[in-house]
Amino acid sequence: MKSEELRIFYSSFFIYFCINIIFKMKNLTVLTGAGMSAESGISTFRDSDGLWENYRVEDVATVQAWQRNPELVQNFYNERRRQLADVEPNEGHRILAELEKNFNVQIVTQNVDNLHERAGSTQVLHLHGELTKACNLSKTVVKDIGYQEIKKGDTLGETQMRPFIVWFGEQVPEIMNAVEIVQNADILVIIGTSLQVYPAAGLMNYAQKNCPIYYIDPKGVSNLPKYVHFIKKGASEGMKELREILLKQN
Ligand code: OAD
Repeated sequence: MKSEELRIFYSSFFIYFCINIIFKMKNLTVLTGAGMSAESGISTFRDSDGLWENYRVEDVATVQAWQRNPELVQNFYNERRRQLADVEPNEGHRILAELEKNFNVQIVTQNVDNLHERAGSTQVLHLHGELTKACNLSKTVVKDIGYQEIKKGDTLGETQMRPFIVWFGEQVPEIMNAVEIVQNADILVIIGTSLQVYPAAGLMNYAQKNCPIYYIDPKGVSNLPKYVHFIKKGASEGMKELREILLKQN
């Protein structure tokens, strides 16, 4: 490069660098649970009409259940996948996707549905797996299956195919990535989770001291720390209220 070209190159780089520092979008980190998708028609787990009212965790969401009765487990997740094909993202999902215009929105979800992605969110980390994926028994081979059923005899990586779900008692491989995302949050929002299942429930403890935390849930939890701003609403109404607050502050 000639010296004039070099000068232009370095000044453009410097300007780009300054713009990024001055106008850097804030990191808006969002932790979501089953309540996020409730208004789309997907049942939560622990509410009065929740999934764990009709199924026992030990029968459908553990490795032991899979070893004992794989058909029952498959049917349970095939049903969840079928249902997912019939529902749509709700206003809450859509607002989170729109907020990418103003914030670096990173979503860490306990949900195995794909409604955040279908609403347009581009950075979604699934802590508990994904319904539209399947894997082999050791989880070393993962495949997109969309809304198809998993049947007995379907193989992947030379083993029976299984749902790509983190069952109770299994490792949560994405947890350290989630911790890092929360540590970098400028604002933390928690939506629709009863905060009963660890390690996900402990993630908010990794937020920096000065990071404001908002919790949107129509019920709430008894041991919510005082410094958390509680918005006692469902996901859509709660996100409308929070959008106002965030855009005013930004
Ligand atoms: P839960 O069923 O435990 O909690 C759902 C939360 O959503 C409750 O706090 C409800 O008050 C709230 N809720 C209900 N309707 C809502 C609405 N319209 N808008 C917003 N919130 C609403 O679900 P999770 O906390 O997500 O794990 O459960 C965590 C994990 O336990 C799940 O990922 C799943 C489950 O067993 C596995 O299967 C591994």
